[in-house]
Amino acid sequence: MAASDAREPLPQFPRDFLWGVSTSAHQIEGAVDERGPSVWDAFTAVPGRVKDGTTAAVACDHYHRYREDVALIRELGVGAYRFSVSWPRVLPGGAGEVSAAGLDFYDRLVDELCAAGVSPVPTLFHWDTPLALADEGGWLRRDTAERFAEYAAVVAGRIGDRAKKWITLNEPAEHTLLGHALGQHAPGEQLMFDALPVAHHQLLAHGLAVRALRAAGATDIGIANSHGPTWPASASPEDTEAADFYDVLLNRLFADPLILGRYPEGIAELMPADDIDADLKVIAEPVDWYGINFYQPTKVGAPLPAATAAPTEFSGLTLPPELPFTPREIEGRPVTDFGWPVVPESLTELLTGFRDRYGDRLPPLVITENGCSYEGIDDQRRIDYLDGHLRALHRALEEGVDVRGYFVWSLMDNFEWAEGYRQRFGLVHVDFEDTATLERTPKASYAWLRAALRAQRA
Ligand code: FCB
Repeated sequence: MAASDAREPLPQFPRDFLWGVSTSAHQIEGAVDERGPSVWDAFTAVPGRVKDGTTAAVACDHYHRYREDVALIRELGVGAYRFSVSWPRVLPGGAGEVSAAGLDFYDRLVDELCAAGVSPVPTLFHWDTPLALADEGGWLRRDTAERFAEYAAVVAGRIGDRAKKWITLNEPAEHTLLGHALGQHAPGEQLMFDALPVAHHQLLAHGLAVRALRAAGATDIGIANSHGPTWPASASPEDTEAADFYDVLLNRLFADPLILGRYPEGIAELMPADDIDADLKVIAEPVDWYGINFYQPTKVGAPLPAATAAPTEFSGLTLPPELPFTPREIEGRPVTDFGWPVVPESLTELLTGFRDRYGDRLPPLVITENGCSYEGIDDQRRIDYLDGHLRALHRALEEGVDVRGYFVWSLMDNFEWAEGYRQRFGLVHVDFEDTATLERTPKASYAWLRAALRAQRA
């Protein structure tokens, strides 16, 4: 018997716990010529930006194959599907004229999901800013937040009768850090700490969109932020200070204003606002739930003396030496193909830590992404990863943290941003070599999850 068959069944989750899988538009849709251009199209056109030299022009061709993909979701037995709506597919110029074909696509997708008994959970922004808006300054401009709210209303006007759960933004922290501070994601800006306005404008966009969605009749609105425990490399004051700083950037810069209505100390002064209190009021517009994307904890220390000369390679990123912290290796743990350490119990730590930090102010939580990159169709290591994280999540429930759902990243292998197609996160394998078929093959982890969900319902 394979080791995975011998494991204990998962503990029972609450009956109404929401199970789902996640994807995002740019990573799966393809059909690039059937929408307006986004920053990712421009970014991937520059040689050297994507490690394997690929683009998402075809990706999984989900735009044309969505029926097959919805059938896979239905067969898996999850209750919900988190996808993202491509802003430049709906509004090719970012604002103004709406593309009928673009909106029709999401209309068909939502119908197909509903017919399959799967709840559609649209995310309105998963990093694919319309190029026309980026050319005018993108997220460095306050206007982009206003345009986003208009776009949110357009989408809600079309699919809001069937989409009953919404996500405004995906990981504004990564979009700020990777896209605008370090330049390793689109739009490729290397502004370092001058990228902070991008954080503020995304937060503002979120708050304005919550209002616009509610005005359009939408309910059950959340956001998907990436978070992870931050461990100081040692108890020294230098390492602790560096880890605290990293914790502010990853965990508090977005969560504090959303949940508490204020920025961590010293940040508000750096944000571009005529009236910061008024902005914070918009940003803290109450959400119905708070989404967490979780992959790994990070060990952080003071900048290394040797690092003052050379960039550090970390989890697929190249970090410049001038950062006031250095991520350190977490030793003695298995790593995924991406080099990310596998530390399931740190999910319990993260969730109880959120509860302890925010107390009664914390909205109900949903894990909006969790998963791992491994090659192969017999992906026992993905099963181990998911099994371990679900047990850790269950422990947090036992400790009284209010978590209402869990979405695996990802339904299928897809375009993993600057990594191209070489990091495979899917429960379903996609044959990117054979572009005529792009054949989908459910992996061992898909069968495992389907069986685990059946057992939950038994
Ligand atoms: C998250 C992103 C998602 C995917 C996973 C692996 O940061 O939201 O699109 O790239 O990581």
